Amino acid sequence: MEIRISPSWAALWALLCWANLAGAALTVDLTSADSIKTAAKTIAFNLMTYYHGNESGQTPGILPGPPPAGPYYWWEGGALWGTMVDYWHYTNDTTYNTETLNALVFQANSPQDNYMPPNWTASLGNDDQGFWGMSAMLAAETTFQNPPSTQPQWLALAQAVFNTQAARWDTQYCNGGLRWQIPLSNNGYDYKNGIANGILFNMGARLARYTNNETYAQWAIKTWDWTSSVGYIDDQYNIYDGAHVEKNCTDINKAQFSYTAAVFLQGLGFMYNYTNGSEPWGTRLKGLTNRTLEVFFPDGIAVEVACELTNTIQCTTDMLSFKGYVHRWLAQTTQMAPFIHDTIMPVLKTSAAAAAKSCNPDGTCGFRWNTGTYDGDTGAGQEMNALGALMSLMVDLESVGGPVTNSTGGTSVGNPDAGGDPTVGNEPTAITGRDRAGAGILTTVVLLGFLATVTWMGTRANEGPAWVDEREKRLSGLGPIHA
Ligand SMILES: *[C@@H]1O[C@H](CO)[C@@H](O)[C@H](O)[C@H]1NC(C)=O
Ligand SMILES: *[C@@H]1O[C@H](CO)[C@@H](O)[C@H](O)[C@H]1NC(C)=O
Ligand SMILES: *[C@@H]1O[C@H](CO)[C@@H](O)[C@H](O)[C@H]1NC(C)=O
Ligand SMILES: *[C@@H]1O[C@H](CO)[C@@H](O)[C@H](O)[C@H]1NC(C)=O
Ligand SMILES: *[C@@H]1O[C@H](CO)[C@@H](O)[C@H](O)[C@H]1NC(C)=O
Ligand SMILES: *[C@@H]1O[C@H](CO)[C@@H](O)[C@H](O)[C@H]1NC(C)=O
Ligand SMILES: *[C@@H]1O[C@H](CO)[C@@H](O)[C@H](O)[C@H]1NC(C)=O
Ligand SMILES: *[C@@H]1O[C@H](CO)[C@@H](O)[C@H](O)[C@H]1NC(C)=O
Ligand SMILES: *[C@@H]1O[C@H](CO)[C@@H](O)[C@H](O)[C@H]1NC(C)=O
Repeated sequence: MEIRISPSWAALWALLCWANLAGAALTVDLTSADSIKTAAKTIAFNLMTYYHGNESGQTPGILPGPPPAGPYYWWEGGALWGTMVDYWHYTNDTTYNTETLNALVFQANSPQDNYMPPNWTASLGNDDQGFWGMSAMLAAETTFQNPPSTQPQWLALAQAVFNTQAARWDTQYCNGGLRWQIPLSNNGYDYKNGIANGILFNMGARLARYTNNETYAQWAIKTWDWTSSVGYIDDQYNIYDGAHVEKNCTDINKAQFSYTAAVFLQGLGFMYNYTNGSEPWGTRLKGLTNRTLEVFFPDGIAVEVACELTNTIQCTTDMLSFKGYVHRWLAQTTQMAPFIHDTIMPVLKTSAAAAAKSCNPDGTCGFRWNTGTYDGDTGAGQEMNALGALMSLMVDLESVGGPVTNSTGGTSVGNPDAGGDPTVGNEPTAITGRDRAGAGILTTVVLLGFLATVTWMGTRANEGPAWVDEREKRLSGLGPIHA
C-alpha cells in the first residue's frame, strides 16, 4: 500500500530536503524518449486506476459518475479514451488498447452509433458528444486498431457525430450556431457556447482533411465565421465562453477556458494543412497561438486561468482536466503546421517539466504545475493532464507519425450518411434521476450566469495581469467549487 503525502507535509518535506527535492518527484529526463515513455507508463497506470468500467457490474467506457454517483460526467470517459489513443500512439504501449477500443465502441450506442446514449441524456451537450467524436476521429487519424467489421468504425463514428451536430445548426437565433445542450429540456439549451462550436469546427476541419471532402471544410468555415461574428472570438483571438439565445447571443460570458482555445487552434492547424497552407488559416493560427500561449501559459506553464486562482482552486472536475487536452492538441498542431512548431514547442516543454514536478514517483499528479511540487489535488483529470503534457513531447523525440488521411495510410471505413436522428431525449422518461443534475462540460448555467454578472462584465479581458488580479479578488469570496 502506498503512502500519500499531504500537501502541508509535502511543503515541509521540500523545506527539509531541499537538495533532494528532485528525488521526491517523478523523475523524468525530458530529452530522452525512453525516460518519457517510462514516466508516461507510470502515470497511465495511475490514471487507469480510476477506470472500473471493465469490472463486472460496471458500465463500459465511463469514469465513476455522473454526479452524485461519482465525480465524472459522461463526456470525460470520451476524453479519457482519446488520451489513451494518444498514449498508444506516442509510446507504442498497447496495454490499454483493448479497453480503449471496447469503451469507444460500447458508448457509441448501437445501433445508432452516434454517441447519444439515452443513459446520459440529462448531461448530453453537443460538446459532450463531441468529445467522444473527437476521440473516434483521433483513432482514425492515428491508425489505432480498427474494431471488427461487425462493429462501428472510427471514421463513421466521427461522421455520425459531425452529421448529427450539423443537422442541429440553429438559424432561429443569433443567425446560426450550435446550442450547448442537445435536449431542449436540459439547462443550457438556450446557451450557445464556444466549446460546442469549437468542436464542430475542429471535426469539420479534420474530416475535410481525412476524407478530402470539401463539404466538411465549408462547415468549418461557416462555424468559424459564426463564432467570430457573434464576438465569441474577438480580434485579439480571445475566445469567450458563450451567450444566450434570448439575448441574441450578445450577453457574452467572458470566461476563457484553455480547451476552447485549443480546440479551435487544432482545427486551424488542420484547415491550414488541408488548404496547403492557404490564408486566412496561417494568419489565424499564428494569432490564436500567440494569444493562447499568453493567456494560458503565464511563465511558460499551463494554468487554467478562469478557476486556478492564486489562493484558491475553483475549478469543477471538468475544468481540472483541460490542460492535458491543450498540450496534446497544440503538440499535434505542430505536425499539421510546421511553421508554428518553434513557437509552440518551447512552451510545451517548460510546461511539461513543471507538470512532472507536480507528480509523485508513483505517478500521482497534482493540479497546480507552477509551485514546483505535488499539491495533493488529484483525480482522473489531473492524471490526464500530466500524461498529456509528458507524452506530447514525443513529437520531437522519435518518429511519431502525424495524423493520416484516407489517402496517406488511413484504413478506417467511413459512412458519409452516418448518424441518424439528431434529436434525442425530449421524451420525459428519458431523464433519469441519477443523471438529472447533469451539467455538461462546463459548470452549471447558474454558476456561469453568476460569474458573468459578477465578474466578467465590461472589457477587462484585454487588460492583462491587472484583469487577472481583479478577477481573483472578486472571485475570492466564492470558495472552492470542487471538493
Ligand atoms: C480492466 O482493464 C485493466 C487495464 O486497465 C486490466 O488490467 C484488467 O485486467 C481489466 N479487468 C477486466 C475484468 O477485464
Ligand atoms: C512505434 O513503432 C513503430 C514501428 O513499429 C516505429 O516506427 C515508431 O517510431 C514507434 N514509435 C514510438 C513512439 O516508439
Ligand atoms: C445504460 O445503463 C444501463 C443500466 O445501468 C446499463 O446496463 C447499460 O450498459 C448502459 N449503457 C450505456 C451505453 O452506458
Ligand atoms: C478511401 O480510400 C479507399 C481506397 O483506398 C476508397 O475506396 C474510399 O472510397 C476512400 N474513401 C473516401 C471517403 O474517400
Ligand atoms: C442579432 O445579432 C446579429 C449579429 O450577431 C444581428 O445581425 C441581428 O440583427 C441581431 N438580431 C436581432 C433580432 O437583434
Ligand atoms: C493541396 O495540394 C494538393 C497537391 O498539390 C492538391 O491536390 C489539393 O487539391 C490542394 N488542396 C487544396 C484545398 O487546395
Ligand atoms: C501538412 O502536414 C504534413 C505532415 O502530415 C507536413 O509534412 C506538411 O508540411 C504540412 N503542410 C503544410 C502546408 O505545412
Ligand atoms: C504575441 O505577439 C506579440 C506581438 O507580436 C509579441 O510581443 C508576443 O511576444 C507574442 N507572444 C507570444 C507568447 O508569442
Ligand atoms: C461529403 O460530405 C457530405 C457531408 O457529410 C456528404 O453529404 C457527401 O455525400 C460527401 N461526399 C462524398 C463524395 O463522400
